[in-house]
Amino acid sequence: MRCERWQIYQQNFPNQTNLAKIWEITRKRAQNIPLQYLLGYAWFYGYQFIVGKGVLIPRPETEILVEKVLREKNTMKVLEIGTGSGAIAIILKKKHPQWQLTASDNSAAALQFAEQNIKLHQIELQLVKSDLFTKINGKFDIIVSNPPYISSKDYKKLPAEIKLHEPAQALIAGERGLEFYKKILKNAKEHLTKNGVIYFEIGEEQADDITRLACDYRKVEIYKDLNGRDRVVRIER
Ligand SMILES: C[S@@+](CC[C@H](N)C(=O)[O-])C[C@H]1O[C@@H](n2cnc3c(N)ncnc32)[C@H](O)[C@@H]1O
Repeated sequence: MRCERWQIYQQNFPNQTNLAKIWEITRKRAQNIPLQYLLGYAWFYGYQFIVGKGVLIPRPETEILVEKVLREKNTMKVLEIGTGSGAIAIILKKKHPQWQLTASDNSAAALQFAEQNIKLHQIELQLVKSDLFTKINGKFDIIVSNPPYISSKDYKKLPAEIKLHEPAQALIAGERGLEFYKKILKNAKEHLTKNGVIYFEIGEEQADDITRLACDYRKVEIYKDLNGRDRVVRIER
C-alpha cells in the first residue's frame, strides 16, 4: 500500500523542466506580474482568451455587460468600442452567429491580441484600428463599450499589480472617469439605427453622471452586478 502511494506520488511529481517553469512563474508572480500574463491566457464567460503585456485582462464583472447585450432582439449590426482582447465581441458573435460584429480599439498591441483570439475561436468579425468613431462607418443596432472609466485620482489607489503591468490607457478616463462616456455619447447618435441602443459598463458611482450625460437620449436603464453595484447602463437612441 505504501509503495503504491509512493509510485502515484512519483508519477504526479513535476519533472525537472516543469519544475523550472513553475519556479520561473512563481518568481515573476512575486514581482506582481498578473498570473494571466504569466500563463498567457485568461478565462472570460467560460472561454479562454490569449492575453499578455499591452492588453487589459478581461474581468468577471464584464460578463454582466455581455449577458445584457445577448438578450437584445432585432439586432443585425453591433459595434464594440475599445475591444482589447476581443473578449466581448467574440462572445457576442459566438452566441449570436447571425449578428455582424465590428470591434475597434486604438491600441495596436491590444488589436494584436484580439486578432489572435479571433483565430483561436474561429469566428468572423471585423477589426478596426480607430480612435473612438474616427474610422467607423455606417450605423449599428447596438454600440457596446467597456471604456476606460477610472478617474486619475482613483487610478493612483489601484494595486501595484494593475498599475505596473496593465495598460494605463485602458483604464484612465480623465479627472472624473467620464471622458469616454462623454465622447461616445456625443457622437453615437449618427452611428445608431433608429431604434439603436448603447450599452456601457460603468463604475459603481457613475450611474447618476451618465444618466445626466445621456439627457438627450430617449431612455436610460441601469443594471446592477451580482454584488448589488451599478454596473451596466442601457441607453436608447
Ligand atoms: C477597459 S478596456 C476594455 C477592454 C475589453 N473590451 C474588456 O472588456 O476586457 C478599454 C479599452 O479601450 C481602448 N481605448 C482606449 N482609448 C481608446 C480610444 N480613444 N479609442 C478606441 N479605443 C480606446 C483601450 O485600448 C482598451 O483596450
